[in-house]
Amino acid sequence: MTMLELAATAHQLVGSGKGLLAMDESNGTCDKRFAAVGAPQTEEPRRAYRELIATTPRLSESISGAILYDETIRQGKKDGTRFVQVLTDAGIIPGIKVDTGAKPLAGHPGEAITEGLDGLRARLRDYFQIGARFAKWRAVIAIGDGLPSRGCVGANAHALARYAALCQEAGLVPIVEPEVLMAGEHTLERCQDVTEATLHGVFNELYAQGVILEGIILKPNMVLPGLNCPHRQTVAEVAAATVRSLLRVVPAAVAGIAFLSGGQASELASARLNAMNLIARSEGAQLPWPLAFSFARAIQQPALEIWRGQERQVEAAQQALAHRAICNKAALQGEYSAAMERT
Ligand code: 13P
Repeated sequence: MTMLELAATAHQLVGSGKGLLAMDESNGTCDKRFAAVGAPQTEEPRRAYRELIATTPRLSESISGAILYDETIRQGKKDGTRFVQVLTDAGIIPGIKVDTGAKPLAGHPGEAITEGLDGLRARLRDYFQIGARFAKWRAVIAIGDGLPSRGCVGANAHALARYAALCQEAGLVPIVEPEVLMAGEHTLERCQDVTEATLHGVFNELYAQGVILEGIILKPNMVLPGLNCPHRQTVAEVAAATVRSLLRVVPAAVAGIAFLSGGQASELASARLNAMNLIARSEGAQLPWPLAFSFARAIQQPALEIWRGQERQVEAAQQALAHRAICNKAALQGEYSAAMERT
């Protein structure tokens, strides 16, 4: 796999007017979300739910790639067809979450380091053979009293860069995801400072590890006030702050940016993404990278709440999933509006 091929895959994922669907919840996270809607928390319902997603009619019109979890990439439809095959046949590129989760960072109370580098080269080779063409690694950065520490940002940036270099060696496009978390009372301005500092750290390390920026996708948080911050900015203000931060820090060579949703309400995530793409389209803006989405909750949540583990709800849930995918695709063109939610 040459760097040109990696760049072509990255372009197909985020430069084609579509976005990514993250369906890579670990079993623990998936079970937590199932418990919240009253769905049973065992392997078969997890498989059935992923079948619901992967077989949603016309999903590929809005979705270019889907991120899977290790259990899911080895599973398939009830008739035995592997999900990798189902997605590929539909024109959706399969990807894989390869980190093994965020664990407490020693000596840094309240902070986490994402693990999974040990044995990663062999796992990537295996995932490529199964059919994955891109990967994901998520680092989490908490904002709090004196947080994040330099140690936390530095350790996570280093791990992200080591992961990204290994992915490119294996022919997989790395999605580099440093998530500054929404939890807390912090202001939007504080989130902006922390997001910029984190991204600076990440791009320094990517450079040090020789990662080719044309062959990565950045998956950042939007710049938002903390969940418990009393001052709430408008959609346009959030979009402006986010675009400003990205322009300050993200090199133009990066293939594309695909936002995580981070627990934002589905419609708000679409509206904010739309507002950013309106900025991108405004005269003189000339952003160097496409601004796409790589949402899990903001695409799946309405469908999950309809499904609740019940077979007879599959079709209605698929319609809700397709609707969110269509709304977010429209947001990439600056063509999303609240009126779409009423159709
Ligand atoms: P959310 O969109 O729910 O934040 O998930 C995206 C993701 O892939 C988290 O790693």
